[in-house]
Amino acid sequence: MKKYLVIGNPIEHSLSPKLHNYWFEKNDIDANYSKRNIDKSEIQKIISEIKDNKLDGANVTVPFKSDVIPFLDILSEESQITQSVNTIYKQDKKLVGHNTDIKGFELSLKETRFNLENKIIFILGAGGVVPSIIYALEKLGVSKIIVSNRTKQKAENLKKNFSNINVVDWGDQPEFDMIINATSLGLGKEDKIGLNFNNIKKEKLFYDVIYNPKETNFLRTGKSLGCKVTNGKMMFIYQAFEAFKIWHKVEPKINEELKRFLDL
Ligand code: ATR
Repeated sequence: MKKYLVIGNPIEHSLSPKLHNYWFEKNDIDANYSKRNIDKSEIQKIISEIKDNKLDGANVTVPFKSDVIPFLDILSEESQITQSVNTIYKQDKKLVGHNTDIKGFELSLKETRFNLENKIIFILGAGGVVPSIIYALEKLGVSKIIVSNRTKQKAENLKKNFSNINVVDWGDQPEFDMIINATSLGLGKEDKIGLNFNNIKKEKLFYDVIYNPKETNFLRTGKSLGCKVTNGKMMFIYQAFEAFKIWHKVEPKINEELKRFLDL
């Protein structure tokens, strides 16, 4: 039986085991996927378990997506530029780090059918997932990316790898066509972003990377303005879909039954 797992801290709420194990069953794959809460000091040990064939692959989640990099043999271009690895697999005895969050975000956007060409994108936050979002958006040909983060320097730091982005102060509200909440504001029920969207036109897209809760205050605001809204559910499913394809060379099904099963 093959063995996979997701490492992170905290990890209790990760739905990756539920999703991958469901797909194993549906595709008759003899494998098991678990989750492990680790300290940073344990990364090396886990990576050697993959090297020694005790594990067949791993997903990496917050806060270790950059921390695993020094222990890997090869990085995909996507991982290199974003300095973020969420999927580890083995190729000719070498450990490869890849970033499927990018494709996950891209596919989730495709599903919204929102036309991104020549659009202005406003990103709130500068944490771990933001380089992946910027990478995907640049590939999709948006006209301008504006980033705002409470700690402005973290947003400025993104310019090292994404020199074309614009950075504004936290609280500023530039013109935009699509706004993305990539902060952790919204995980708590009372969390508010603190922007005033009163004069916003209807044709905007509000995207929240958070999928639990299903509807954050941020998305509720977008909805009340008549804008299109989407949460991070499909990004989560599609990043797993991409990892599954790499590990098992099988394209798992994404359908309503799956979404019901995950209760997302
Ligand atoms: P990390 O920053 O360790 O990668 P993350 O969960 O990926 O963690 O990112 C959290 C994001 O939410 C950051 O952009 C953070 O802003 P700071 O860089 O200033 O910490 C943002 N965030 C968290 N709590 C916030 C709050 N109360 N107000 C505004 N932004 C907040």
